[in-house]
Amino acid sequence: MSDTPVLPRPRGPLSEAVTEALRDNASLPPVGDPDPVGEDLAVALHTCYELHYQGFRGVDPEREWDPPLLEFRRGLERVFLAHLRESVPGGDDVAGVLDELLVEPVPGTGVSHFLRDKGEWWQLREYFAHRSVYHHKEADPHAWVIPRLRGTAKAALVAVEYDEFGGGLGERIHAKLYADLLRASGMDEHYLHYFDDVPAPVIAVVNLMSMLGLHRALRGGMVGHFAAAEITTAPSAQRIEQALRRLGGSAATTHFFTEHIEADAVHEQVLRHDVIGDLLDREPELAADVVFGVQATELLEARFGAHVLDAWAAGRSSLLRALPDHPGPS
Ligand SMILES: [Fe+2]
Ligand SMILES: [Fe+2]
Repeated sequence: MSDTPVLPRPRGPLSEAVTEALRDNASLPPVGDPDPVGEDLAVALHTCYELHYQGFRGVDPEREWDPPLLEFRRGLERVFLAHLRESVPGGDDVAGVLDELLVEPVPGTGVSHFLRDKGEWWQLREYFAHRSVYHHKEADPHAWVIPRLRGTAKAALVAVEYDEFGGGLGERIHAKLYADLLRASGMDEHYLHYFDDVPAPVIAVVNLMSMLGLHRALRGGMVGHFAAAEITTAPSAQRIEQALRRLGGSAATTHFFTEHIEADAVHEQVLRHDVIGDLLDREPELAADVVFGVQATELLEARFGAHVLDAWAAGRSSLLRALPDHPGPS
């Protein structure tokens, strides 16, 4: 079976318009003034971006550079980016915002804390479904920043990407380890299989990465985003691994997370000192963009966490459609 995704289910007029444009060459409407955090914008923008990754079944790959689609995407990005810029505190204290990420609140209140302490198997599987929309393309958007960097910043970022892409081994690519995790969890491992089931807050996290990766003007933001993600991944991977072990999971389910506990502790240092340090030596005027990348990541991750925990606290699925029951981890 082809792993190329099918067009997503529309969630409003903009996502409907873009899927129709891709399916039937329908013309695109003006973007207007949509809700920057709504389901419709998230899906419409994600659909535009996916043309730069794997594309869609039945859609001509040439549509990636279709001027009306690019103009439509630009309109969506303007709304999304303006919202992010006005929702974060800003500033140019790069060391300060990165140090803040290292301070773990006590007691922790995030999704991974909840999962470690009292998460049930169905909740872990929901978490895996949410995160699959990124981990299927893990480290891909970050690769777009490589040609925008120079010297040590470039070399060090590529060293981290080399790990993310399996150190030369296809079976160790982190996206592949994630597919293995899904299979071991009784879930569908195919690329973007769960896309129609996940809500806007997690799609927004992926849209942020795609936007930062595709725009050279936002290269500082991409580097800040990458550092923020690497700093926060090792401790959260540790908590998910503890949750899985508590529920009886074996290496088949814990491997993706154990891989990240060690690797990301190293990646964090490389990003901080060699990538950000060297980038700001060369281009000190990018400090505010680096801060923006860190803060936008934290903002969207916090919203995603709140969405998931609110749903679970209310006894609801955090997905748009709950997963079928499954007996337990392997
Ligand atoms: Fe990774
Ligand atoms: Fe990493």
